[in-house]
Amino acid sequence: MSSPGKATVTFDDGTATVELPILKGSVGPDVIDIRKLYPQTGKFTYDPGFLSTASCNSTITYIDGDKGELLYRGYPIEQLAVQCDFLEVCHLILYGELPNAAQKSEFNERVTRHTMVHEQMQFFLRGFRRDAHPMAVMTGLVGALSAFYPDSMNVNDAKQRDISAIRLIAKMPTLVAMAYKYTVGQPFMYPRNELSYTGNFMHMMFATPCEDYKVNDVLVRALDRIFILHADHEQNASTSTVRLCASSGTNPFAAIAAGVACLWGPAHGGANEACLTMLGEIQAMGGMAKIGEFITRVKDKNSTVRLMGFGHRVYKNYDPRAKLMRETCHEVLNALGLQDDPLFELAMGLEKIALEDDYFVQRKLYPNVDFYSGIVQKAIGIPVSLFTAIFALARTVGWVAQLNEMIADPEYKIGRPRQLFVGSPRRDVKPLAARA
Ligand code: CMC
Repeated sequence: MSSPGKATVTFDDGTATVELPILKGSVGPDVIDIRKLYPQTGKFTYDPGFLSTASCNSTITYIDGDKGELLYRGYPIEQLAVQCDFLEVCHLILYGELPNAAQKSEFNERVTRHTMVHEQMQFFLRGFRRDAHPMAVMTGLVGALSAFYPDSMNVNDAKQRDISAIRLIAKMPTLVAMAYKYTVGQPFMYPRNELSYTGNFMHMMFATPCEDYKVNDVLVRALDRIFILHADHEQNASTSTVRLCASSGTNPFAAIAAGVACLWGPAHGGANEACLTMLGEIQAMGGMAKIGEFITRVKDKNSTVRLMGFGHRVYKNYDPRAKLMRETCHEVLNALGLQDDPLFELAMGLEKIALEDDYFVQRKLYPNVDFYSGIVQKAIGIPVSLFTAIFALARTVGWVAQLNEMIADPEYKIGRPRQLFVGSPRRDVKPLAARA
């Protein structure tokens, strides 16, 4: 971080002019360091939704929203998605470098040896209703890990943070698969160490004690790519939640559970589920012939309908993950002989019309990663209600890496935003009989 200059802020209320340092990152916009603003002027800045606020410095993920570029530790997502597997990407995000062959096998071994969860976990899970949403279950299960692994709870101990990171990355697939098996009433499947991370997840999801799951390489590769594309995305809502939560010194499992809860929302991780539900609704309305009518509803100021899987706070260009996902969608549907999948045709029809429509062009609304990921997951056999849990599984590495980065930063402080108070000023409590 260098300091290329200063910003001078003048006030028309008599407050003395202040000079604020400008900080330069390695790429991306400069930031104005306002940490001394309040002590020097008695004023805060106001930025609900963090539209112009960098909440931290980070070395993990860089997004250029105008170009549609996404880099993990400097590497373009397009190269990582094609040349690496998910665990290599996890190593990169967590430790800063892609592993060499020896590091790769050591890391794979460490993760693989932690995939089982405490046997007691299944009894905890059995307390949930069978029809509970998987994200409700996941929020509970991830938070509950802190009750099972008390030896890795100290967030200020780098070794304990590392073992928690490995435990979380390793156990998330087991927990997601358990949440799924519980809803369908099938026995939980234990992890199998001879399988890859993603192959093992598919085994735990789709095998039963009566029948092995025959691992299909195209589908494993597709799901592995979904994991890679969702692994991190800089300071999005759930990652910021994890950072804020962990900034109090709470344990990593509790902080990641907070991230899972945040991800659940339809404006964030819940969008892939909402997108597939939307495609189903258009299909029920009459399919391709009704796209125009649906787009009119989306554009209507008086309606709350949004084109799910479109738009992004940062990308004002095509989300690079959506391009890769569309490619994967083709591969998976071809491999399964579903080239004429009506939902995929509908999605492509919607995309074409939206990309040519002034409403979307003017607002720079393009497909995001969720637009095609639901179709891929559905084709693989993952139920719609589990989509956000898959996102949580993949994002766990990003969350723990961001948490570790924050705690290791010598400048780290508990997160404590301020406010512009617009409520009642001080007043006195009246006796009950005198209140209006
Ligand atoms: N369909 C229709 N109009 C939209 C959409 C959409 N999907 N997204 C934004 N707009 C309009 C919005 O109505 C507003 O119009 P106007 O200026 O006339 O009021 C304008 O575009 C700006 O939207 P905004 O809500 O102020 O933008 P934001 O940056 O606060 O929201 C977003 C970003 C992702 C929440 C939003 O685009 C959205 O709700 N998209 C649909 C949900 C979705 O696909 N979310 C997944 C995001 S990618 C996965 C992830 O990283 O979590």
